[in-house]
Amino acid sequence: MGFPQFVSAISIFLIYTSPLILGQQPYIRKATTLCDSRDNSTSVLGYTCNGVSRSCQTYLTFRAAPPYDSVSAISTLLGVDQSQLSQLNSLPESTIFESDRTVLVPVTCSCSGLRYQANVSYIIRKDDTVFFIANNTFQGLSTCQAILDQNGDRATTLSIGSRLNVPLRCACPTKGQTDGGVKYLLSYLVTSNQYVFSISQIFGVETGSTLAANGLSVQDTTIYPSTTLLVPVQDPPSSSQVTAPQPPPPPYSGATPASVPPGSGGGGSSKAWVYAVVGVLGGIALATVIGVFVFICCRRRRNKGQPVVSSESFESVEKPLKREKDPDSEEFLESLSGIGQSLKVYSFEELKAATEDFSSSCLIEGSVYRGTVNGDFAAIKKVNGDVSKEINLLNKINHFNLILLSGICFNVGNWYRVYEYAHNGSLSDWIHNNDERRVLSWNQRLQIALDIAAGLNYLHCYASPSHVHKNLNSSNVLISRDFRAKIANFGLARSAEGDGEQFLLTRHIVGTKGYMAPEYLENGLISPKLDVYALGVLMLEILTGSEVSKLYDRYLQLSDVLDPVLDQENGLENLKQLMDPSLQGKYPPELALLIFRLIDNCLKKDPSDRPSTDEILRSLSRISNSSMSGEWAISISEHHTRPR
Ligand SMILES: *[C@@H]1O[C@H](CO)[C@@H](O)[C@H](O)[C@H]1NC(C)=O
Ligand SMILES: *[C@@H]1O[C@H](CO)[C@@H](O)[C@H](O)[C@H]1NC(C)=O
Ligand SMILES: *[C@@H]1O[C@H](CO)[C@@H](O)[C@H](O)[C@H]1NC(C)=O
Repeated sequence: MGFPQFVSAISIFLIYTSPLILGQQPYIRKATTLCDSRDNSTSVLGYTCNGVSRSCQTYLTFRAAPPYDSVSAISTLLGVDQSQLSQLNSLPESTIFESDRTVLVPVTCSCSGLRYQANVSYIIRKDDTVFFIANNTFQGLSTCQAILDQNGDRATTLSIGSRLNVPLRCACPTKGQTDGGVKYLLSYLVTSNQYVFSISQIFGVETGSTLAANGLSVQDTTIYPSTTLLVPVQDPPSSSQVTAPQPPPPPYSGATPASVPPGSGGGGSSKAWVYAVVGVLGGIALATVIGVFVFICCRRRRNKGQPVVSSESFESVEKPLKREKDPDSEEFLESLSGIGQSLKVYSFEELKAATEDFSSSCLIEGSVYRGTVNGDFAAIKKVNGDVSKEINLLNKINHFNLILLSGICFNVGNWYRVYEYAHNGSLSDWIHNNDERRVLSWNQRLQIALDIAAGLNYLHCYASPSHVHKNLNSSNVLISRDFRAKIANFGLARSAEGDGEQFLLTRHIVGTKGYMAPEYLENGLISPKLDVYALGVLMLEILTGSEVSKLYDRYLQLSDVLDPVLDQENGLENLKQLMDPSLQGKYPPELALLIFRLIDNCLKKDPSDRPSTDEILRSLSRISNSSMSGEWAISISEHHTRPR
C-alpha cells in the first residue's frame, strides 16, 4: 500500500468509526447581548431538556481572572466544591491561577422545567448590571435573559448585597449522543480567536460532532467570544488537555509557525498552546505512524548536509559528459534495462502504431501525444537532445505522486518517452478556466495539495540522490482520472547532493516566473526549499483559483495577498474575498485559514524559515483528516472527466 492510499485508508477508517451524532442544542450566537429580547428560538434561556437523563454530572470551563482567580474564589462563584475543583485541575486548594488560565469546573446539571441548568446563588456587588453579571462575571456561562427570566423583580432592582439566582448553561447528552459513546457535554467558554475545529481538537473530539451538537454546520461555523459551545466528550476532561504545554520544536516544529497567526506577539502564547494541542491530538494518528517514519528519513539526509557546487563545475562539466552518451544510445538503453525498474524499451514501430503514426488527432500539446499501448492510454513525448539525466532520475524514482515513466524509445536522433497517462490533464487547466462544470471541490483541492507535497517529499527525502524539482508549477502537475495529482516534467530537476558542502549554486537561472524563490532568483541558490516556495505558490493558486501571474498583477508581492486573511480579527471575514468564488459556502473556512497560514510559511523570504516537505505533509494530513472525519462532506455533483 503506497503512502497516499495509506492516508486515505486512515481517513476512511476515521469516517466509518466516527459516531454519527445529530444536532441538538442551537448555538446561542450573538443573542447574549440582546437582554431585552425574549426570542426563545435560540438557546438564550438555556439548553432544552432533551437528554436521556434529567440530571447529570458535567463540566464547564472558566477563565481565571481577578478577583476570581483562586480555587476558593472560583468555587464560591460557581457554587462548586473546592476540593473537587482542585482535584479536577490537579492543583492544591490554595492555588492562585495565572490570569486567563482555563479552569475546569465540575457541576451537576439538572432540568428546571424545560431547560437544563446548574443553579448558582450570586451576591450582587456595586456597579453590577445583569448584562455585566452574565457576560463579564460569569463570562457567558449564563445570560442576562436567563437571569431576568428567573429572578423577577430582584433582577430589575439589583440591590447590593442581595442574592440572585444565576442559571449556568449546561446540558446532558441525548440518546443519539450516548449511543455514539458520548458521556458528557462540556460547556466550553469560547474566547477570541478560537474555532470549532481548534476547540474540538483540544478534547480530541471530531469537529463534525461538535458542530452537530450545537446545531452548526460546515457552512456555518462562526462562533463568538463569551458564549458556550457544547463539546461532546467520551471521558471527563483533564487539566492537561486545557493547559497543554508548548510542544518541543522537533519533531513537530511545523505546527507552531503553521498555526500561530503572525503578529500575535506575547498574547499569542495562550493561542500557541491551543494549536499545540491541535497538533498533538490531531496529528497523533498520522504523525506517529507516518511522521516518525518520514522524519527519520529526512533527518538522516539532512545530517549529511546540503552541498555546494560552484555553478561552472555543475553546469558546464555535467552536460558534455551526458552528451557523449547520445551517440551511444544503444549502450545507454542497455544500461537502463539492467536497472531495477521495469522501464520498457519500445521500438519506433510500436510507438507509431500507438499514436496512429503521430497523427494530429493524437496530439495533446507541444510534442506530447496520446497513445494506446496495450489497451491503455499513455502519454508519449518526443524530446530532442539530451534526456539521459531525466531518464536516469525517473528510472530510479517510483512514487504514486510522481508521473511514471514506463518506457523509452530511441529513433534517428530523437528520444521518445512513454509516461503514464493523466486523464484529467494539468492542474492549470482545472484552476484557471471559466467552465463551471470543471470546478474542483474543496476535498479534491486538499487531496491534490497533499499529493504534491507527498511527491515532493519523496523527491527530497527518498530519491537517491535526493532531488530538487526546480520547476514546479500548475502546468507540471497532472491530474489522474480519479483526481489525484502527479508531478511531471523533471527536465530541470537537480540533484540536491554534492560533495558534502553547504549549498548548490548556479548562475543559470531557469524556472517559471512567479514560482521562483527569492534566494534562487537573486543568488542562484538551489535547495529543496525552492520547491517548498513553489508549493506555497501552487497552494495559493489552488485555493484562490487564480493564476499566479494574475495575483502579481493585482498585488506587489504574494505576502500582500495573504495579509488580509492572516489578520487575527478579520481573517475569517476576509477569507471570502480571497477564496475561489466557485467554492463559496462549500469549504470549511477555518481549515482554509490553516492552509493560508501554511502557505505564508512556505513563502518566507529566508529559506530556512520555510517548513520542510515532511512538515507540510503532516500539516496537510491533519487538515485533510479533519476535513474528512469532520464530515465536511460537501454535496457537489460529480465532475465529468474529460478524456483527451
Ligand atoms: C417560545 O415562547 C412562546 C410563547 O412566548 C411559546 O408558545 C413557544 O412554545 C416557545 N418556544 C420554545 C421553543 O420554547
Ligand atoms: C434552580 O432555580 C430555579 C429558579 O430559582 C428553580 O425553579 C429550579 O427548580 C432550580 N433548579 C434546581 C435544580 O435546583
Ligand atoms: C463581555 O465579556 C468579555 C469578557 O468576558 C469582555 O471582553 C467583553 O468586552 C464583554 N462584552 C461587552 C459587550 O461588554
